[in-house]
Amino acid sequence: MTKLLVVETSPRGGHSISRNMTRRFVADWRTVHPASEVIERDLMETDLPFVTAPWLQAYFTPPEEHSPEMKDALRLSDELVGEIISADHIVIATPVYNYNIPAALKAWVDHIVRKGMTLGFDGSGLVTGKKATVLIASGGVYTEGSPIRDRDIATQYLRLILGVIGITDVTVVAGGGAKAVDMGEQTMDGFIASVEPEIERAAA
Ligand SMILES: Cc1cc2nc3c(=O)[nH]c(=O)nc-3n(C[C@H](O)[C@H](O)[C@H](O)COP(=O)(O)O)c2cc1C
Repeated sequence: MTKLLVVETSPRGGHSISRNMTRRFVADWRTVHPASEVIERDLMETDLPFVTAPWLQAYFTPPEEHSPEMKDALRLSDELVGEIISADHIVIATPVYNYNIPAALKAWVDHIVRKGMTLGFDGSGLVTGKKATVLIASGGVYTEGSPIRDRDIATQYLRLILGVIGITDVTVVAGGGAKAVDMGEQTMDGFIASVEPEIERAAA
């Protein structure tokens, strides 16, 4: 069965533009893949610690030598890696905060880039044969021709990280200018409709 992993990061619930983009994507996905399974990983509902000394100690200890405490330290990371490995398509829906991804999403990245699991000891990505879609909401517009194009760090970073673990078939749907919705200049439905063709293509 085809599996879709959806990683959500916005704290804004129903008001979130990236979450509304995800809703559209998942609806399109279910139409094209009626027998698929959707796994939701909501980082706002995941107690995601930053990297700590005990976590690093566990990471750099061979698995066969792990103490119960080390297994505990890596449990969530193992789970997050397992979700990626089991998925055929990964959607990352995120706001842009201060020109980059939110800290919660960076914490997720630090848990899923794991030597021997998603990253080979020779530096090659081990998560091959999968697709990813990045649904990104930002107040500014960073697409081709924008005067602030050079500030499009979040997109570049996610492409880089996905590539590092082996996912090179990446589609980015840029929901730029999303502040128009928050300022009441555009409806949520109108905004989502403007990115719908790209979302539909990504879900096909
Ligand atoms: C703390 C914070 C920082 C932000 N920084 C940026 C930024 O650097 N560039 C930008 O284009 N938009 C920025 N925004 C606007 C958000 O990207 C925009 O509101 C987006 O719709 C948020 O995603 P969401 O609607 O899914 O929550 C920022 C918003 C907040 C709350």
